[in-house]
Amino acid sequence: MSRPFVLVQLSDFHVGADWGRDPVAQLREAVAAVADLPDPPDAIVLSGDLADDGEPASYEAVRKELARLRAPLFPLPGNHDRRGPLREAFGLAGQGEERIDYSAELGPLRLLVLDSIVPGQDSGAFDATALTWLDAELAAAPGLPALLATHHPPLATGIPAWDGINLSAADRQALGEVVARHPQLLAIVGGHLHSAMGAALAGRPVLAAPSVYLPTAPRFGSAEVPHSELGPGGFVVHVLHEGELASHFRRFGS
Ligand SMILES: [Fe+2]
Ligand SMILES: [Fe+2]
Repeated sequence: MSRPFVLVQLSDFHVGADWGRDPVAQLREAVAAVADLPDPPDAIVLSGDLADDGEPASYEAVRKELARLRAPLFPLPGNHDRRGPLREAFGLAGQGEERIDYSAELGPLRLLVLDSIVPGQDSGAFDATALTWLDAELAAAPGLPALLATHHPPLATGIPAWDGINLSAADRQALGEVVARHPQLLAIVGGHLHSAMGAALAGRPVLAAPSVYLPTAPRFGSAEVPHSELGPGGFVVHVLHEGELASHFRRFGS
């Protein structure tokens, strides 16, 4: 029987944070859970907030923990990251604080990484440069199934305070106009919300990964950003089989 292509998504490690638990220990547990999967990943996307403090030492700690996994790593920045040290640690193209946008051909799947951060603020944005780049990248390979990864997931949570630190409706709509032109884009995956969530944009699934470090629980009607809780961490196993994508949400720890 043919085996699907397996892309694991790990998100929001926040190494350097002290929010009631050790982020490196959490990452270690997540890595152990991925290493124990019956089907090893073919590639791993790291969907931002790898470090909480943007410090080179934090990225080194992340790299050290992930070294146990043999699959190639595809990182992208979150609002807590600093592009320079992140790019340095993972050998990404470009210089210093330049945007981190790239594509990677992963056998049957093309991964597109789109930088959504605005340095100095928690909310994200897509400017014309970002969307023009994405549109051209997708137009260059219309026959290859593609997955778009970005830190801020283009969805509305239904909690105004949470949506206030994500993407504006105008930016989500502008991204949706690009997505609508490219039927080979199978799904958009993100992190940032620390909670497993699904939505849709231009008819494509939008999937937010849980955090490896700390989960959040939605409280509708709350004026505050949902607080983190000491629950289990999680990650996602995306599988592509005969051109169809399915995403399995996994939890680890107690
Ligand atoms: Fe985060
Ligand atoms: Fe974030």
